[in-house]
Amino acid sequence: MCGIVGSAAKRDILPVLIEGLRRLEYRGYDSCGVAALVSGRLERVRSTSRVSDLSTRIGKKHLAAETGIAHTRWATHGAPVTRNAHPIFSHGEIALVHNGIIENHDELRVELKAKGYAFETQTDTEVIAHLVHSLYAGSLLDAVRSAVRQLAGAYAIAVVARGEPHRVVGARAGSPLVVGVGDNENFLASDALALAGTTARIAYLEEGDVAEIGLDGFRVLDAAGRDVKRTVKTVQTAGEAAALGPYRHFMQKEIFEQPRAVADTLEGIEGVSAALFRDPKGNRLRQAKSVLILACGTSYYSGLVAKHWIESLARLPTQVEIASEYRYRESIPNRDALVVVVSQSGETADTLAALKHARSLGQNLTLAICNVASSAMMRETRLKFLTHAGVEIGVASTKAFTTQLVALFLLALTLAKLGKKLSGKEEQKHLRSLRHLPKALAAALALEPQLISWAGRFAKKEHALFLGRGLHYPIALEGALKLKEISYIHAEAYPAGELKHGPLALVTAAMPVVTVAPNDALLEKLKSNMQEVRARGGELYVLADADTRIAASEGVNLVRLPEHYGLLSPILHVVPLQLLAYHTALARGSDVDKPRNLAKSVTVE
Ligand code: M6R
Repeated sequence: MCGIVGSAAKRDILPVLIEGLRRLEYRGYDSCGVAALVSGRLERVRSTSRVSDLSTRIGKKHLAAETGIAHTRWATHGAPVTRNAHPIFSHGEIALVHNGIIENHDELRVELKAKGYAFETQTDTEVIAHLVHSLYAGSLLDAVRSAVRQLAGAYAIAVVARGEPHRVVGARAGSPLVVGVGDNENFLASDALALAGTTARIAYLEEGDVAEIGLDGFRVLDAAGRDVKRTVKTVQTAGEAAALGPYRHFMQKEIFEQPRAVADTLEGIEGVSAALFRDPKGNRLRQAKSVLILACGTSYYSGLVAKHWIESLARLPTQVEIASEYRYRESIPNRDALVVVVSQSGETADTLAALKHARSLGQNLTLAICNVASSAMMRETRLKFLTHAGVEIGVASTKAFTTQLVALFLLALTLAKLGKKLSGKEEQKHLRSLRHLPKALAAALALEPQLISWAGRFAKKEHALFLGRGLHYPIALEGALKLKEISYIHAEAYPAGELKHGPLALVTAAMPVVTVAPNDALLEKLKSNMQEVRARGGELYVLADADTRIAASEGVNLVRLPEHYGLLSPILHVVPLQLLAYHTALARGSDVDKPRNLAKSVTVE
């Protein structure tokens, strides 16, 4: 979602703000802007293009300042035009940037209009700027504290006042915000990553905190208005990882990092045990009589794969729910269920809300599988597993998915072991397969030239169908999601057995049908489904294993992965689909890392 940076220093902070925005740009890129205090005036530069354009505009204006805030936007309220770009001003006295959604903005707008405030934007943010202005009586901290008490919704904000140089005030509720601590200079940011190269000393603000940064320190008031200390930690802000290196796009880099990401996630794991999930004696995981997985998007698909693993290995009933649906439906709570939230960012608003909803129903046995150690989900669950994919910048999730699958497979093995359903021999066999995965992934990546050739043909299509069965149906879903989100080709995935119940009507010679066809127990069934496609003139693009008995022929294009990889096969079969989506998007000239309308880390509902 939107990215926020703020600085108070005794040097020109524009380079820090721009660098911070550059690092956060992947989170939202509809527009960007900075506001800075220059000779007692609030100056603002905004762009509806990218941060590089903003930087050029700032250079042309010769802007330099010691106090400022900056923002990169993913539009929620109001089109991505300059007028709606942040920072938003109130009377040239207050400048404010905001990530999140203010749910009661309509009511507040009516009240503020009655007080004489005129609105220039279509944003919900403008109500916060005017509200702070209306409450300002010489202390920005006090005004922000009073203002946030009137806000409903999720937000992180950073605010400066014309009359208070070297001071930035921030607040968070539902969206992340951190304080970066420097020497006689301090910073605010929506992610520590924004401050990589500036400071590694980070204090994470908690729900309801209001913080003030100045030159010589920072102060935090909690939701009840008490002065509180927030620990300053030295964090690895992964500045290096945010560099592209020899790759053209982060997505490409991240696809090729998968052997390393999986190896890092497995690093130091000698055996299957509940301790992997921070349950040293297994007392908590042993209580689980069923599993409820909550997630969104790609992370949801990893949950769908995990359902097969947990049910077949641990024999525990497993339910997988789209977080945004679960949070609003009347479900039947099960206090003995292990609630697992799966998320790359650990900040996805719907997944976080679903976790809270599950807890509100008395389901307190919670586990987070996340890629960000400091994320809200990791903080809010009792049990945790950190995937070591490394920072994922491309909006299309790739290495986060494969490492989530590794974590979920370990969970299935652990639950099976605790339930005495896994022998020592079986455990060793599965661990050997896991350890061999990086090599097998490298072999799957070596298929790239064939996927480039498929992509050339896909690039000319407007629709595609993806089929899979069993463990590989979620992989078909993931393949379709990857293709649609970065190439804008309409793609749908079906369990192959469903084809004849409707989607077969779409199949013509113009419809490419991607089929995930590992050499598993469902292969013969899948072959019949493939015949149904060929009989209607549909062109098949088949991902088979080396030992699958399928031959390439007229209308049947074949890519062969290594030999069938058993239960872990989905982790390999997704790789060619990632490469197909990447090269198709490249061939169509779309902005692979920043696809239209999307953002990394969806921190609004
Ligand atoms: O950070 P999360 O894993 O919670 O994000 C969930 C989805 O927003 C995410 O997987 C999204 O679907 C990706 N753009 C897919 O590539």
